[in-house]
Amino acid sequence: MIDHPIPVVAVDGPSGVGKGTLGRALASRLGWHFLDSGALYRLTALASIKRDLDLEDSAGIASLAENLAVRFNGSLADQRIWLDDEEVSLTIRSETCGNIASKIAVMPRVRRALLQRQRDFRQPPGLVADGRDMGSVVFPDALVKIFLTASPEACAIRRYNQLKEKGIDVSLADLTREIAERNERDARRLIAPLEPTVDAEVLDTTGLNIEQVRERALLIVSKRLHLN
Ligand code: DC
Repeated sequence: MIDHPIPVVAVDGPSGVGKGTLGRALASRLGWHFLDSGALYRLTALASIKRDLDLEDSAGIASLAENLAVRFNGSLADQRIWLDDEEVSLTIRSETCGNIASKIAVMPRVRRALLQRQRDFRQPPGLVADGRDMGSVVFPDALVKIFLTASPEACAIRRYNQLKEKGIDVSLADLTREIAERNERDARRLIAPLEPTVDAEVLDTTGLNIEQVRERALLIVSKRLHLN
């Protein structure tokens, strides 16, 4: 593989594990760009809901993914996302969008359509990318690959608190079941399944708070990037 001049830190892992929080913290610390790849799947899900597309219509959904009119702006701490000139930053965080995103993420054409869009985020001085296949498929030449894990219960509670903070009301029991189903689907799919690559550092975050996860991840990043 030809060496790419723009470095990438890949942060992969299941729903609710805290990839977004860690990814943003690393991007902020390094002064790099940040890609929330799940947002692209969620945006495709929202676009297909708005157009009332059937989940069986993979050609229609792939064509939506190919032509998504999206814009990202705002800051790392307050990212704003637009779809067809409507701000949907909060709408795409719903569990409905997350679950449909996971269902359409098994479609090869949808994944192909979103591949270049994700790679376009690789801009100087560097990129921190979070998702399921950042280190395996989208940026296989990433300089640092971190794979976060946590118990299903810890993932559900973290996601529950995140949604509550955003003012989205959900039941913890429903969320626990839905996240377990989603993570199972993401891990078992044939294309780009959620699994660590051999060169990834696996970090089990069960029982760790955000600060502790950030410190451990920063240590990994500093070593690999030879930072002081
Ligand atoms: O990270 P998230 O919860 O926003 O992602 C929503 C869904 O999108 C996730 O369940 C699976 C899919 N996804 C994916 O297949 N590959 C990615 N790189 C990111 C998300």
